[in-house]
Amino acid sequence: MSEVAVAVDDLVVEFSSDEGPVRAVDRVNLQLERGKILGLIGESGCGKTTVAHAMLNAVAEPGRIVRGRIHYAGHGDLLGMSEEAQRLFRWQHVSVVFQASQNTLNPLQRIEAQIRELARAHRISNPNALVGRAREICDRLRLDGRRMLDAYPHQLSGGMRQRVGIMLALLLQPEIILFDEPTTALDSLSQESVLRIIEEIHAKEGISGVFITHDLGIVAEVADVVAVMYAGRIVETAPTGTLFNAPRHPYSRALLNALPRLTGDPRAAKGLTGAPPKVVGEVAGCLFRERCRFQTAQCKMAEPVLTSVDADHRVACFKINEEDGRASV
Ligand SMILES: Nc1ncnc2c1ncn2[C@@H]1O[C@H](COP(=O)(O)OP(=O)(O)OP(=O)(O)O)[C@@H](O)[C@H]1O
Ligand SMILES: [Mg+2]
Repeated sequence: MSEVAVAVDDLVVEFSSDEGPVRAVDRVNLQLERGKILGLIGESGCGKTTVAHAMLNAVAEPGRIVRGRIHYAGHGDLLGMSEEAQRLFRWQHVSVVFQASQNTLNPLQRIEAQIRELARAHRISNPNALVGRAREICDRLRLDGRRMLDAYPHQLSGGMRQRVGIMLALLLQPEIILFDEPTTALDSLSQESVLRIIEEIHAKEGISGVFITHDLGIVAEVADVVAVMYAGRIVETAPTGTLFNAPRHPYSRALLNALPRLTGDPRAAKGLTGAPPKVVGEVAGCLFRERCRFQTAQCKMAEPVLTSVDADHRVACFKINEEDGRASV
């Protein structure tokens, strides 16, 4: 039996706005198995980063977690812990690498000073050992550890800063790392090297990860399972191979269709027209229906829930059998 490292249950996150509460994450359920990487994909604004922030209970104002549980194996619900326990839990058990790691770094302090501050904040009895470990991880990430620790963030290139961000995420040996577009701001060579590093630490240390990216090629490469989000909801989850070879939700099919293929007619790669709806308060029905060529009255009246179509493959759509499940949008 596979073990679940973290389970997100019935998560709802809203941002207050003049029009009312914007529902950025709507009743999301996710399970991350130990040692596995879950890819989280979907168009801009669909709620991926908000899910990652909620997994750290770090949703910023004007957002708030309306309900849900973030259950970490062996630790319980993060949202039920005291503020102090949550503070210690982050970085120690779950850490994060953002697109712009420089934003995690204090521009006014050398990296070593920041590590010493982390040691203080986490009541680590031997800060020198932590600095030593940081140097070692840097070397493993093909960075000159001594030079990195001595540097101010602005003295490092984007690729270096991103690797320093990964080093910091690894430093307290967490079981889970959340990667939110860790390679997006990098040139393709740095991107490739950061990706190799993530794969390497995943393989060696059995770390579980959530990997958020717009780059479906990267998802295909690093993720074991994929969850597709649309307008705050999960619309499909499947093992990576299944999702790429046999997506069932019309939205997933459209997302994958937008990819140019090596074989076949390149003109068949179509962009998806229109935009996701802004969800204010509770909205009934399928949120994708306005962009879906299979929509019927049912899609407006009722909400499709995630339903198993195969082992580990779940889809929230009434029309998955349209054209034998193989139609393109
Ligand atoms: N600071 C904020 N204030 C108001 N609304 C916000 C804020 N941050 C996010 N939202 C709302 O939450 C939704 C989801 O945003 P989120 O950043 O999680 O999307 P995303 O999938 O990470 O997008 P991207 O791919 O562009 O990073 C947005 O569409 C927006 O409605
Ligand atoms: Mg985001």
